[in-house]
Amino acid sequence: MTQPKPKKNPSELRSQQWFGRQDRDGFAYRSWVKGKGVPHDQFDGRPVIGICNTFSELTPCNSHFRTLAEQVKIGVYEAGGFPLEFPVMSLGETLLRPTAMLYRNLASMDVEESIRGNPIDGVVLLMGCDKTTPSLVMGASSVDLPTIGVSGGPMLNGKWRGQELGSGTGVWSMSEQVRAGTLKLQDFFEAESCMHRSHGHCMTMGTASTMACMVEALGLGLPGNAAYPAVDGRRNVLARMAGRRIVDMVHEDQKISQVLTREAFENAIRTLAAIGGSTNAVIHLIAIAGRLGVKLSIEDFDRLGSELPCLVNLQPSGEHLMEDFCYAGGLPVVMKEISQYLHLDAVTANGKTVRENIEGAVNYEPQVIQPLDKPFKEKAGIAVLRGNLAPRGAVIKPSAATPALMVHRGRAVVFEDSDDFHKRIDDENLDVDETCVLVLKNCGPKGYPGMAEVGNMPLPPKVLRKGITDMVRISDARMSGTAYGTVVLHTAPEAAAGGPLAIVRNGDMIELDVPNRRIHLDISDAELAARLADWKKPEPPLSSGYWKLYVDHVLQADQGADLDFLVGKRGSFVPKDNH
Ligand code: FES
Repeated sequence: MTQPKPKKNPSELRSQQWFGRQDRDGFAYRSWVKGKGVPHDQFDGRPVIGICNTFSELTPCNSHFRTLAEQVKIGVYEAGGFPLEFPVMSLGETLLRPTAMLYRNLASMDVEESIRGNPIDGVVLLMGCDKTTPSLVMGASSVDLPTIGVSGGPMLNGKWRGQELGSGTGVWSMSEQVRAGTLKLQDFFEAESCMHRSHGHCMTMGTASTMACMVEALGLGLPGNAAYPAVDGRRNVLARMAGRRIVDMVHEDQKISQVLTREAFENAIRTLAAIGGSTNAVIHLIAIAGRLGVKLSIEDFDRLGSELPCLVNLQPSGEHLMEDFCYAGGLPVVMKEISQYLHLDAVTANGKTVRENIEGAVNYEPQVIQPLDKPFKEKAGIAVLRGNLAPRGAVIKPSAATPALMVHRGRAVVFEDSDDFHKRIDDENLDVDETCVLVLKNCGPKGYPGMAEVGNMPLPPKVLRKGITDMVRISDARMSGTAYGTVVLHTAPEAAAGGPLAIVRNGDMIELDVPNRRIHLDISDAELAARLADWKKPEPPLSSGYWKLYVDHVLQADQGADLDFLVGKRGSFVPKDNH
């Protein structure tokens, strides 16, 4: 365990360049804050802790964050700090169109500039719904102050008519049943209230739970961060302890870059495999690493994670939900099981090593977290595919796919974009059967725009009616972490950037070979080159505003889909005075 350093001299704190001044500007910096009832001694050189809050009624998963922020504040006061809460753009997965991912980088700018431009010495990030985690971590990484992450926690398990109902996962299967005519609309509506019945984020191992696990695996959050349900009293304790700890981190000058090292990312990648986590984590981890200057590629996910088994029997790959994961012992149990693959000396935000954080973990529910020698699924980490259809890579999550489809050759049924897909997929005259490969174009970062979660295309009703629930699907889109199927995602370059996906035609044969990491369009090189030469770039969705900035500057999926000018750290320099 690292020894706490002596308290910082107040003059070393960046907040003192606002609050420690004896001049006109010092008067202004203090006076307006005093107006909310703050006594003069709060400006005496104690660490000022920013609480970066993504509370929003438009982000239902984060709707309890006012309570969480209050707990962090108490912890900060207890440790002798001065907390100041601030809001940032909150990205809700369910309401925000065309996709919250379009705004992840924008929110990260908000976070970065809000931290740097204010008298903040350390920051606590309150994160929950999918994109609120990477946007906050990316922004904070570009500033590089002492930082600790607190996730909002998953909802309680969904329960409906005696069965477990997982966020998202249940929606995908029930909506297919409605389309197949096997589930009444009235029952569908009733299930809506039973699936989401408490505060918190999705309680499947979707993207929010995956990213909360990543926060813990990276060492950015305290042990227990991933699993305590939002409404569990221990979630509030965790927030309070984070408030206490961040004050020490400021005194110790433990910056986020000292926690989020290459070793920490490798720990995260291996943990991602063991939890059967969301493919979205690939993009987010690469984007976060990019902000810190840590080299991370999609190959790292295949090389480090694909041979590892999935230990966690949670939806969408399995049966259970996050509440069960908590009762089983949570992420420390998983990390202890795979400890031989982890960098155990990596230092985490609580000042302890990974080894110290996991050594006391006990597995109370082996049917939820299975042991390494009897895993839930073998070799389940994310696989990276390459071939003439994806020269810069594509990903598939084998743990959520159908084993019999992992090697498959089929006729392409092509949809030019999501509008074309919705127009034709229910058409009984669509020339498709279960051996075909559904291809969806123009849903990548530039194409959609924002790389929406539309890659898990619903199947044609005439296929569903045969009782078939999976087909090979390929796109440049993402997939909800709560979704499942033999779905090839993140194809790069995307169609709208002139990738080969753009020139696939109906009737072409496509070969998927996951064991050999191959995705191939069965046409000659000459034919491929001729079709690409004929390709016309689609019109951008908007010619001004943020959408234009995004489309002009977004990187491809294999580079984390960050904006090119945001990659890297810009540090915590104190900007000029404002008057
Ligand atoms: Fe917010 Fe799933 S919709 S986490």
